[in-house]
Amino acid sequence: MQIQDNISLKPYNTFGIDVKAKYFADIKSVDDLKTVYSSTTYPKKFILGGGSNMLLTKDIDALVLHINLKGKSIFSETDHSVLVQANAGENWHEFVLWCLENNFGGLENLSLIPGNVGTSPIQNIGAYGVELKDTFYACEALNLETLKVETFTNEDCKFAYRNSIFKHEVKGQYIILNVTFKLSKGHHELHTTYGAISFELEKMEIYQPTIQDISKAVISIRQSKLPDPKHIGNSGSFFKNPVISNSEFEQLKVSFPDAPHYVVSENEIKVPAGWLIETAGFKGKTFGNYGVHKKQALVLVNYGGASGKDILKLSELIQTTVKRLFNITIEAEVNII
Ligand code: EPU
Repeated sequence: MQIQDNISLKPYNTFGIDVKAKYFADIKSVDDLKTVYSSTTYPKKFILGGGSNMLLTKDIDALVLHINLKGKSIFSETDHSVLVQANAGENWHEFVLWCLENNFGGLENLSLIPGNVGTSPIQNIGAYGVELKDTFYACEALNLETLKVETFTNEDCKFAYRNSIFKHEVKGQYIILNVTFKLSKGHHELHTTYGAISFELEKMEIYQPTIQDISKAVISIRQSKLPDPKHIGNSGSFFKNPVISNSEFEQLKVSFPDAPHYVVSENEIKVPAGWLIETAGFKGKTFGNYGVHKKQALVLVNYGGASGKDILKLSELIQTTVKRLFNITIEAEVNII
């Protein structure tokens, strides 16, 4: 394993922010990780997966460990289901396509989400009515104190909306090495109720969709709404959709009777942050080389050359404006570094 210094992280984050890593190592095996963590040479370390859910606002004064563990395999199977395992450095969408080629069902609604397999459980990625937790079976992670590999079951991970144990209780204590999913082999359970999917399938004139059709529909919706990080720097949804109480929602309805919303539980209502931001007038606004995406207000974009601090400032302006207009707090979904 080679340790390089003064490396630009621009190719390693989907926002395309040009900050530098003091030291950088490409991690290709669990032994590489054990070597780094058993040595005292580089006391400060920073873990980098697919770089698709972070905003880098400064140089990283640490050894950046780029988790590049590759490989995927069928772990075990029955007549109806299969356990597939992918190592942390596998690209998420390529893994989803591989599952679809094998006709393994369960991940099709999560097609085209940027990032890697290893970081997918951290924020319990989700889209179009499906979350990672629906098919997540287990993951193995390296305990950075004992250097032993431990297994986390679905229950252990305490998954919630864009949330898991890896964001809270055990934050910074483990590196996820691989993830195992339980997928269907036939009799797939299809999730087509999310409005945009059924609309897209109808447009495609598909009335009895396969899992491959659903993936195609999702890809088409995402491509029409979300900017491709290869062309325009972004981190997907910058904010989480806020969950408010019934009484807060009643107050919102006084001024905004048509506010879109989803009932989450008896006393919890989710309001799309995209709607709040659009109504606050930010959709499509540009500030020089960065701004708010014109087709989806939840997505902040770097048109090239913006700094992380610029984008952070814009996100704070959006937060204070939304708070002032709607009395609702919206939280960043991306990790701000
Ligand atoms: N909306 C607007 N204006 C906008 C965007 C959205 O008014 O600019 C309103 C509309 O009422 C629309 C509703 O928001 O009906 C929902 O929009 P959409 O279906 O696009 O979903 P979202 O809530 O904006 C969430 C996820 C996305 C995921 C989609 C589809 C979060 C923070 N975001 O967005 O995830 O792809 O649902 O399931 O939960 C990501 O996490 O990076 C991401 C892209």
